[in-house]
Amino acid sequence: MPPGGHRLPPLPYAYNALEPYISETQLRIHHDRHHAAYVEGLNTAELALVDERARMDFSLVRYWERELAFNGSGHILHSIYWTNMSPSGGGEPTGLVRDHIIAHFGSVQAFREQFSRAALDVEGSGWGVLVWQPQWGRLEILTAWRHEDLTQWGTIPVLVLDVWEHAYYLDYQNRRADYIRAWWNVVNWPDVERRLRLAMGAQVPMQCHGAPGHGPMPSAPIPGGPLPGGSGPAEPAPGPGIPGLA
Ligand SMILES: [Fe+2]
Repeated sequence: MPPGGHRLPPLPYAYNALEPYISETQLRIHHDRHHAAYVEGLNTAELALVDERARMDFSLVRYWERELAFNGSGHILHSIYWTNMSPSGGGEPTGLVRDHIIAHFGSVQAFREQFSRAALDVEGSGWGVLVWQPQWGRLEILTAWRHEDLTQWGTIPVLVLDVWEHAYYLDYQNRRADYIRAWWNVVNWPDVERRLRLAMGAQVPMQCHGAPGHGPMPSAPIPGGPLPGGSGPAEPAPGPGIPGLA
């Protein structure tokens, strides 16, 4: 992906496919305007930094680095958000996702309550994010302020919930809790499992291999012992880029 080469990925379903939980108008504006703006902002920031390097003038680097973080994170999270939803979504997680949720959160219900409350309590604009943390070898729930604050380095999002008002205001006004309750009806659990399997193949070494006192990174154990299909990378490690991103 060359600098400035990002494109808005198309929705994987029709604009009205998530009704009655998310309306066609809401989805169209969210995708076509808001997400598009982050893609444009990311491209602009990347090209501005190319220009700064060419001129060896980094007087605006602080501004462009912030633009890079904000718009890049916005593009990535929205791209995941669209595929995390499906007209045939909802229900309960199964298989690997269910096993890891129970292993770390105790029960699906406890996970759902924590995730919902975390998203509800985001101050202002942000996200609820279920991540795979390769360093610890387990799932974790994080929140994001705006798109890029409050995160934890090295984590890989597998399920994201946009709680910016632009995601729900037309349908739910200021009733974020109603939007979150409705959103569970469109969660695409098979996509979450696909992302989890790919994330589990990622390697993010924290220690310095070969340095005195540092051996190779051990494989992180799964609480409660091996899980079906979860004791190692279930699929080849993903190549460069985020699956699902155009
Ligand atoms: Fe959004």
